Amino acid sequence: TKKLLIDTDPGCDDAVAIAAAVAHADLELVGLSTVAGNTTLENTTRNTLAILELLDRTEVPVARGCDRPFCRDLVHAEEVHGPGGIRGDMPEPTAEVIDDHGVSFIVEQARAHGDDLTIAAVGPWTNLAAAMHLEPDLPDMVADIYLMGGAAMTGGNVTPEAEFNVYVDPEAASHVVQYARPKMGGLDVTNRSKVAPELIEDYARRGVPFETIAAWFGYEDTDAIRERGIDDPPSVHDAAVVIDIVDDIFEYETYPVEVNTGHGPSRGATICDTRGAPGEEPNVDVAVDVDLERFQTTLAETLENL
Ligand code: BDR
Ligand code: CA
Repeated sequence: TKKLLIDTDPGCDDAVAIAAAVAHADLELVGLSTVAGNTTLENTTRNTLAILELLDRTEVPVARGCDRPFCRDLVHAEEVHGPGGIRGDMPEPTAEVIDDHGVSFIVEQARAHGDDLTIAAVGPWTNLAAAMHLEPDLPDMVADIYLMGGAAMTGGNVTPEAEFNVYVDPEAASHVVQYARPKMGGLDVTNRSKVAPELIEDYARRGVPFETIAAWFGYEDTDAIRERGIDDPPSVHDAAVVIDIVDDIFEYETYPVEVNTGHGPSRGATICDTRGAPGEEPNVDVAVDVDLERFQTTLAETLENL
């Protein structure tokens, strides 16, 4: 089994990612750190606790992280994920966050578990960048750092060039791509990471927790899914990264990548140099292809363990 720490901003697809992580037999979720992104830190933290409550896994520690990007005002995505940042019927959390700040929690977990630990950052990379300032050896200490974010060869989703997690905190993202030697699962692969409409419609009729998970998959409240069905399911970006961690569904190629930290129309673009130019050091394993069938099968089988 792999020990996994997820840094997250739930977020519907974050919620599916967390569900997959607690359900997969080969993953041990050592904790979650929360970050401002899809919605405020207050909401992402409450949503994280509520997700664990729904899945009956309240023993998993949750640490509250950074409440805003390094240099910019928070841009959220509640219009995509729902008011408060999540859809579906969510229980009132009974558990509380731990005392540690999310950034120190990441560092402590890295020190405690060393190369048994895998980190997945599936919100803006603010906490991860800060953790790497606190402990510059972090990338050497842990097994792997997986990122959801960026768009190396494809266009963006917030702007023509930028993917949301990078767009929200480009300065943090720039630090992470420079120093984390990450595996980056960006829109190049996650745009395609969807499940079949029938699965979501089936979940919507299956009772707790699946009826709520249907809402996360559909970015739509469960009643709406029951009434209208789903034509074209949205991508569950963050869940694809978690499935890749256990099942290698992505194919990676290594390239030099830079983040545009400007303020113009290319803010947050991940510029991937595929030229093979001499003198350019590759720094990021970029996911360039996804085994869609395996993604769908593994994710559905994993969730059956809930
Ligand atoms: C990313 O942005 C967020 O809205 C999702 O949770 C995902 O992490 C996709 O661009
Ligand atoms: Ca996310």
